[in-house]
Amino acid sequence: MRLILLGPPGAGKGTQAVSISEKYKIPHISTGDIFRYNIKNQTELGEKAKAYMDQGLLVPDEVVVEIVEDRLKDQDCKQGFLLDGFPRTVNQAEALEAVLKGMSTGLDKVINIEVDKEILVRRAVGRRICKNCGATYHIEFNPPGKPGICDKCSGELYQRDDDNEKTVGKRIEVYLDETQPLIDFYQEKGKLVTINGNNDIAVVFDKIIESLEGRD
Ligand code: AP5
Ligand code: ZN
Repeated sequence: MRLILLGPPGAGKGTQAVSISEKYKIPHISTGDIFRYNIKNQTELGEKAKAYMDQGLLVPDEVVVEIVEDRLKDQDCKQGFLLDGFPRTVNQAEALEAVLKGMSTGLDKVINIEVDKEILVRRAVGRRICKNCGATYHIEFNPPGKPGICDKCSGELYQRDDDNEKTVGKRIEVYLDETQPLIDFYQEKGKLVTINGNNDIAVVFDKIIESLEGRD
């Protein structure tokens, strides 16, 4: 299955991506995670990306497209993939179409997760991530058993630099300007399924699976 997860910051893309990629045994490719990995390891790419991410702005298209293009050539993407946070501009979406055409393949579905704006801010600001295994929690909606400690590996939880109210506001603005047009882009191609992401994590997951398996 070749899928894209579309939705504003805090919509639950990363949370759902983990379960979807597990269910269909396809790699979860998050451009945000790739950048954060590079920032942590102080690479040249990380340094370049950090300046944009800290302001809530998009990393330039040419940088992102090259990374995804390389990743999609990996052997584990031959059976499918789940893109999370890419594409984010019409330019990136067109570049992806060209890359997939070059690989004689195409997308199956684009899952658009819709969430009300006030909820988005609360979700992003309350998010905590495990330093060790990357598991995502929420201080209110999905808290760990012990505050600040990962249930899965006992790692320490941290807050992303861009998860403060000001930067989240900017990221939502950028989403509306640059990424929302992709909803029409994929609707016209007949690939779009829209999911109400205001519900609980498990309910949203069930709706996604229903829509992928044609049971809706
Ligand atoms: P990226 O890492 O992609 O962040 P984002 O799109 O802003 O999305 P988030 O990770 O904030 O949210 P999410 O939808 O994954 O939500 P999550 O599941 O964690 O990008 C970061 C930056 O990198 C960008 O600003 C940009 O600078 C750069 N970048 C990345 N890709 C790029 C690209 N293609 N082009 C250019 N630049 C790019 O959930 C959020 C919280 O809510 C969690 O705490 C979770 O536990 C909780 N939660 C989730 N679902 C529910 C639910 N149903 N009910 C209650 N709580 C929930
Ligand atoms: Zn952990």
